[in-house]
Amino acid sequence: MCGIVASVSTRNIVPILVQGLQRLEYRGYDSCGVAVHADGLKRARSTSRVAELQAQVSAEHLEGGTGIAHTRWATHGAPAVHNAHPHFSHGSGAGSNARPGKVALVHNGIIENHDELRAALQAKGYVFDSQTDTEVIVHLMDSLYDGDLFEALKAAVAQLRGAYAIAAFCKDEPHRVVGARAGSPLILGVGQDHSENFLASDAMALAGVTDQIVYLEEGDLVDIQLGKYWVFDRQHQRAAREVKTVHAHSGAAELGPYRHYMQKEIFEQPRAIADTLEGVEGIVPELFGDGAYRVFQDIDSVLILACGTSYYSGCAAKYWLESIAKIPTQVEVASEYRYRDSVPSPKTLVVTITQSGETADTLAALRHAQGLGMTQTLTICNVATSAMVRECKLAYITRAGVEIGVASTKAFTTQLAGLFLLTLALAQAKGRLSEEDEAAHLKAMRHLPAALQAVLALEPQVISWAEDFAKMENALFLGRGLHYPIALEGALKLKEISYIHAEAYPAGELKHGPLALVTSAMPVVTVAPNDALLEKLKSNMQEVRARGGVLYVLADADSHIDSSEGVHVIRMPEHYGALSPLLHVVPLQLLAYHTAVARGTDVDKPRNLAKSVTVE
Ligand code: G6P
Repeated sequence: MCGIVASVSTRNIVPILVQGLQRLEYRGYDSCGVAVHADGLKRARSTSRVAELQAQVSAEHLEGGTGIAHTRWATHGAPAVHNAHPHFSHGSGAGSNARPGKVALVHNGIIENHDELRAALQAKGYVFDSQTDTEVIVHLMDSLYDGDLFEALKAAVAQLRGAYAIAAFCKDEPHRVVGARAGSPLILGVGQDHSENFLASDAMALAGVTDQIVYLEEGDLVDIQLGKYWVFDRQHQRAAREVKTVHAHSGAAELGPYRHYMQKEIFEQPRAIADTLEGVEGIVPELFGDGAYRVFQDIDSVLILACGTSYYSGCAAKYWLESIAKIPTQVEVASEYRYRDSVPSPKTLVVTITQSGETADTLAALRHAQGLGMTQTLTICNVATSAMVRECKLAYITRAGVEIGVASTKAFTTQLAGLFLLTLALAQAKGRLSEEDEAAHLKAMRHLPAALQAVLALEPQVISWAEDFAKMENALFLGRGLHYPIALEGALKLKEISYIHAEAYPAGELKHGPLALVTSAMPVVTVAPNDALLEKLKSNMQEVRARGGVLYVLADADSHIDSSEGVHVIRMPEHYGALSPLLHVVPLQLLAYHTAVARGTDVDKPRNLAKSVTVE
């Protein structure tokens, strides 16, 4: 999704801004641009990759010490150069009253009242040359400018409705960049030599440039100049914000022996799970933060809120929470929950699940729940410094490391590990976890890295499935119980990166509709662990075979399902009981990956999708 990098410096900052954009590329974007103060406002914009922008700035000798840069993921207006940021104000008026434009601006988020602001600005003589909501902010600031850019920003944000992270500079103030955040992340980077300062949408953009980071809070405004900066809160009062040393993970950007980040991240899962579970000696509620025991004792139900892949990890956790901890659990897509009338209960533990900790809908759903009086909140999150962790009472930080591939893999399995721990901790707080069960579950968790390694060794078999799938345009995924969410995740992975239409069903639902689609052109992936539902699942598989459907079965070590005509079986190395979803999802990740590779798609940056969805 959109990314921002900005700076005030005494050196030519363009290479640093472009490098920052490169570090944000993984989030997904469809155009990019950079603007500098160089005796006025100068910019380069591209609908191609950041590498092309880099070539453009070199060819045009674009240089300057004050600048702003942006990767755009289109919302209002197509991906086109005239819609790419930075936007410049044109100035207003005509003839002798003409006033040249002064302001350059980049923006993440969505301005909801852009139509009414545009009409008012057009009435003042401002001419728009993009379809973006962003362009209203730059003209608005220009119209309010009276010699002090920060004052113009303050007056402008008072008129904005919606979500924004903004960075802007002005032709008349060469060594100043101002910024604001509300609903979209923005950080301040304090330069190592104290002469330069930065703004960015993510600390990762500044990896290797500065590790001194200030996380701006909701409603903050910021003014950066050479060697100085000021932060103001939403009431426009000076605010002291802690400078944190953040080791942004520049090393994560190395591909090593892998062809794509997604492949690298799939193979990192044994390490990611080991890191996530490191230090877990026994099951204690305090793993989730101080005061967790009291919260866990108080609550009588769980409400899980999440989006995308994180939502599916929540769907799997529901089975654990109800069967092991005996706690009624509801799982809801965050964008639905935030807008519907629901019945709140103060005794509900609200659990958000998010890799980034910045997903706009999940944050809004959390705030909606809090607004309804549900104050017992916990997040399973991969970014310790994120807004989500700051806003929840309790947290478990997964340690997947930076995930670059848009299609989430190691974040999902580490979320499952965190959610399984939560299940056990809740069961324990409720007196529902015997010592023997605790010991058995811990033993199984500690063995997960080795078990995952054995599953990854199935890759050659999965590649042979992928060769078949690459020729298809549709696929069905079936699972039952705890593995139905795994079927959902498998279908999501396949559609995201190979663009094959894929749907998942609980296998028992097959005969209520999807069976009508089954032909030899509709491969049916079946997740078939050896659990209580296996015999029922075998009947569902017969229903597919009888209609000429071709089955691709992920069987358990002891499932007693063999390959035959129209039935392709990959056998899992070991039977894994309650934690089996963590293992069964891995061949499905590999299937999506190798199918996409065979079809030649852009695996790490699938079309139209973004890694971190910071707009609604
Ligand atoms: C986007 C990503 C998905 C991710 C979802 C939720 O759609 O492409 O991979 O699952 O957002 O993101 P979160 O950071 O909240 O887990």
